[in-house]
Amino acid sequence: MRQRREVKIAIIGGTGLEELLEAPERVRVGTPYGLPPEIAIGYVAGKQVAMLPRHGWEHEAPPHKLNYRANIWALKALGVERVIATNATGAINPSFKPGELAVPHDIMDFTKGRPTTFYDGPEVIHIDVTEPFCPELRAVLIRAARSRGAVVHEKAVVACTEGPRFETPAEIRAMRMLGCDLVGMTIVPEAFLARELEMCYASLCFISNMAAGMQDRLTADEVIEVASRLQDIIKGVLIEAVREVPEERNCPCARALEGARVRK
Ligand code: HPA
Repeated sequence: MRQRREVKIAIIGGTGLEELLEAPERVRVGTPYGLPPEIAIGYVAGKQVAMLPRHGWEHEAPPHKLNYRANIWALKALGVERVIATNATGAINPSFKPGELAVPHDIMDFTKGRPTTFYDGPEVIHIDVTEPFCPELRAVLIRAARSRGAVVHEKAVVACTEGPRFETPAEIRAMRMLGCDLVGMTIVPEAFLARELEMCYASLCFISNMAAGMQDRLTADEVIEVASRLQDIIKGVLIEAVREVPEERNCPCARALEGARVRK
């Protein structure tokens, strides 16, 4: 029986990823924002890792209703320093194709009704998101994807829409003109909340479809089908990334709140 220490690495992903963990145990972590799904804690490449299925173990929560604050707070409470997310996306940039992976470097936020901060006052902060994803964790993910032979785009601007509907063709044309490469429904506010708690956050996006207006029609069935087809490669990349992530953090994420406070 291995001793449980602090869990420093978390994976947020879709269902099915629990199999990634050796000897998983599920824990319940209460937060001031409510109860997140049970979190599985186990081992990957000999390191303790927490696995949080963003939509719940039965995929019961839609993207616009997720309790992102409870999810991220719970990981911080477990001692997590680094969060690797997996996100399904559609391709807006025609040179990105279904079945490929991407490690985005920037975000455009088109969400509408989500609580996006832990700081609703009286504490006031303005967090810097000049580099919204952790550069160190991004590099680890890119190297891991390459070493597994995956087609991986090393930069991408990912748009996040409110959902749960897919986008209209006009919305996608507008997003393309604005410089977006990919579109999904879950990166916001996850990435920003992690930054507010000074956790590293990077995303391994997989592309399940061409965005609206670029293929016949969009179905959730297609997203699920491509996700299951890519499951083994995604797992392989995640295992490799966990193995390769350095013990100590050499990135600015741990000091994100320095200079950010307007009112304590
Ligand atoms: N749009 C938004 N979210 C998505 C898509 C899409 O085309 N594909 C997978 N998640």
